[in-house]
Amino acid sequence: MKRTILITAGTGNIGSELTALLASNPQVKEVRVGTRNPEASKSKLLKDFNKGIVKPVKFDLEDSQSIIEAVKGVDSLCLITPLSDTMVEYQETVIQEAKKQGVDYIVKVSVDVASPEAQEGPGAAHWAGEENIRGANIKATMLRPTIFMQHLLIVPGVYEKGDDTFYLPTGDGKMALLDCRDIALATAALLTDPSKSDLLDEDYFMLTGPETLTAEEIKQELSKLSKDKPFAHEASEEAFIQHSNKTNSPLELKGVYEAGKNGAFSTTYTSTFEKMTGKRPNSFARFAWDHRYYFQ
Ligand SMILES: NC(=O)c1ccc[n+]([C@@H]2O[C@H](COP(=O)([O-])OP(=O)(O)OC[C@H]3O[C@@H](n4cnc5c(N)ncnc54)[C@H](OP(=O)(O)O)[C@@H]3O)[C@@H](O)[C@H]2O)c1
Repeated sequence: MKRTILITAGTGNIGSELTALLASNPQVKEVRVGTRNPEASKSKLLKDFNKGIVKPVKFDLEDSQSIIEAVKGVDSLCLITPLSDTMVEYQETVIQEAKKQGVDYIVKVSVDVASPEAQEGPGAAHWAGEENIRGANIKATMLRPTIFMQHLLIVPGVYEKGDDTFYLPTGDGKMALLDCRDIALATAALLTDPSKSDLLDEDYFMLTGPETLTAEEIKQELSKLSKDKPFAHEASEEAFIQHSNKTNSPLELKGVYEAGKNGAFSTTYTSTFEKMTGKRPNSFARFAWDHRYYFQ
């Protein structure tokens, strides 16, 4: 059966890549890209990936009718939750509407630290979302990804386009950073064929990159992109704070990088992803190569 699929927060890092994959998949009838502004240039660009299939739709927590309309007739839903103070409410609203309208499968993008023990922050909010779906009794898969390689693209405190220095206070911590395009790949596989979720023993799986690297090893990979001069890495927390302030970048990430320094991201989880997609997750070198013009 060809499926109608809704992606919430569809214009973001994961949603854009997922839209691209679904737009070229013959099993897909319609891809709805949930956004607060369907007329924004990013929304229009995504539509042009495949005008006959991709529909940017208004999706705004402040406008409950927009959520009702966006979910109408949807078979599968990818629940991506924007990082905000309203994550729990956002998820509850979407899940209730999905239940009401008979959506038959959800892939929820969660986080590696989602657990009943998490007391606050994204771990607690994502756990609440997972439990909400379980309570609604909708068939679902929770994908729990680790920290993204894309921090180098989206966090100015870490790196800004064209610079030859990046700021990552993760010490000797080994990190299995993930290319978040692989979240989109696994999600697309599941959304277009929900029976793939039967490969899982649980209703969730962890996903990381294929290898663990320190910040110094990341520097070596980035340096391979340039013939002229090596990349520089500022390892101190003070340098990161200063650069974050200079670039108006969120300082909350300091805690995440401290966790990385202490080994929180040092385990790789790739086997379920490989079973589901027939592909290994991207290495950092591949990520760097694909974004070489950003780093040069
Ligand atoms: N970054 C990481 O390392 C990491 C690791 C593991 C898990 N995650 C999880 O990944 C999710 C984020 O995914 P992503 O990076 O694809 O998202 P994103 O790019 O940050 O945002 C996705 C979209 O959400 C909409 N949005 C942003 N702020 C909003 C707000 N306050 N209210 C409503 N909509 C808002 C925007 O779309 P419009 O403007 O078009 O509405 C945006 O394009 C989070 O749940 C996070 O916990 C992240």
